[in-house]
Amino acid sequence: MKSEILKLLNVKRGWIYESILSFSINGKAKVMPMGFFTDDMENIGISIYKTSKILEDLLSKEIFVINLTSDVKFFYQSIFERDKLKFLSTKSNEPYIDGVDGYLELKLDRVVETADKKILISEIKDYELFSKDTRLINRASHLSLEALILVTKLPYLSLETKKWALKSLNEYERIVKKVAPNSEYGKIVDALRKFSKTI
Ligand SMILES: Cc1cc2nc3c(=O)[nH]c(=O)nc-3n(C[C@H](O)[C@H](O)[C@H](O)COP(=O)(O)O)c2cc1C
Repeated sequence: MKSEILKLLNVKRGWIYESILSFSINGKAKVMPMGFFTDDMENIGISIYKTSKILEDLLSKEIFVINLTSDVKFFYQSIFERDKLKFLSTKSNEPYIDGVDGYLELKLDRVVETADKKILISEIKDYELFSKDTRLINRASHLSLEALILVTKLPYLSLETKKWALKSLNEYERIVKKVAPNSEYGKIVDALRKFSKTI
């Protein structure tokens, strides 16, 4: 069992962490930023929009890599500057991004369909961690901080800007509750929403 890595990474059940998926197809490395989660601390779920062009390749491949990094540069490059990424090979010869903190190698187990997404549930076949203090990005802490900053600005905003700020606050709340269900961050954004109504 390779799932002990999830505890090492301090992954919490049901929370969504940002990562970059990579795999090779016809000898070419494909990359795609993607959130991942675990519902059972064993298997990994990734939820992909059915419109994604990479989905078919991924389903035919069945083996792929989740790159572990908190460096936003790699996320940016994965979409806009793919030629700047360098790849190394996992033990079973799949590509991972040179410079990341580690990777998980996954094998697709099953696919669950929703209206607009396919949820790929995969087993962890292997992993390597190159850094002891690998921290994954979960968006909840930064978004609740952004929400806090926004709320401190509310009293000074024009009516129109305030409307925009309250919309943003709603959106932050939605994301926080999606990526970190039942968390302290959810309680913070709840309290901030209540507070925003008093201003
Ligand atoms: C940080 C980050 C996380 C993402 N997470 C997901 C995700 O969980 N599911 C998804 O379908 N797309 C996600 N995306 C969008 C895909 O990466 C994007 O649609 C993809 O790169 C485009 O691939 P395509 O050309 O195959 O459509 C995410 C993008 C970023 C930057």
